[in-house]
Amino acid sequence: MLSHEHAHAWIERWDRQQEGYLPDREERFTALIDAVETGRPDPVVIDLGCGPGSLSARLLNRLPDATVIAVDTDPLLLALGRAEYDGLPGLRFVDRDLRVPGWTEALGLPRPADVAVSTTALHWIPGDQLKNVYAELAGALRPGGMFLNGDHLAVADARLDALEVALGTRAAERLFAADPPEDWASWWAAVAADPELEALNLDRDRRKASAGHHGSESGLLSTHVNALRAAGFTEIGTLWQRGNDRLLCALLP
Ligand SMILES: C[S@@+](CC[C@H](N)C(=O)[O-])C[C@H]1O[C@@H](n2cnc3c(N)ncnc32)[C@H](O)[C@@H]1O
Repeated sequence: MLSHEHAHAWIERWDRQQEGYLPDREERFTALIDAVETGRPDPVVIDLGCGPGSLSARLLNRLPDATVIAVDTDPLLLALGRAEYDGLPGLRFVDRDLRVPGWTEALGLPRPADVAVSTTALHWIPGDQLKNVYAELAGALRPGGMFLNGDHLAVADARLDALEVALGTRAAERLFAADPPEDWASWWAAVAADPELEALNLDRDRRKASAGHHGSESGLLSTHVNALRAAGFTEIGTLWQRGNDRLLCALLP
C-alpha cells in the first residue's frame, strides 16, 4: 500500500513539474473552477485524464458538495491520487482508457453530469478518437451541460502560433529563471527508480501507459472545436488564455 505521505510528496513534485510547462497552471485551475462555480453548488463533474487528481482536489476544495468522477488510464498516477485523497468526500477515481468506447458506462454517474473538465490531457488523444470521446461525453452530460478543457491548443496560422508559443516561453523563463523545475522525462525517471513504486511501474509498462503522444493533430484548437461541434456542442469559445494555453469552454443546447 502506498502511504499518504509518500503519494503526497510525489504529487507535490508532479505539480511543480507540470508548472514548468504551464507557468499559469494554478491561475488556469482557478479560472476553470470559477466557471464551474457559476452553476449549482453540488454539480456532478467528470475529470477526463485526471492524472493524480490535482484538478479534482482543487475543485472539491472550492465546491465541497460536488461529486467528482476522475478518469484516467495510468495506473501509477491513479494510485498516487487514490493514496493522497483517500477518504476525500465526493471524489472517486475510475480506471478507464478514454479511447475505448463505452468508458462513460464505467463512471457510475448518479445522474447525467453537469460539467466535464480536463487539463493538459486531451491533446494525447488522436483526432479521430477524440471525435468519439466528445460524442460519448456529450451523451453523459445533461442538456445545457458544460465542458471545460484547459490545454495547449495551437492555431494553424504560423506567425500567430509562434507568437503564442513565445508568450508561454517568456512567462516560464521569467518564473523559473533562478530555479527551473524538473522536466517530464526526469520526473518519470525518478518515479521508475522508486522501489516503493515498482509494482505500479511494472503495471504501467505492461499497459504501455507511457506510449508516445506528441505530434498528434489533437494539439490544434480547430481539431477540438470541430469535434465538439460534431458532438452537438453549440457554443464554443476560449474563456481564459495565455499564449496557446487556453481554457476552452463548450456548451450543450
Ligand atoms: C499531463 S497529464 C495531466 C494530468 C492532470 N489532468 C493534471 O492536470 O495534472 C495527462 C493525463 O492524461 C491521461 N491520459 C492520456 N490519454 C488518456 C486516455 N486515453 N484515457 C485516459 N487518460 C488518458 C494520462 O494518463 C495523464 O494522466
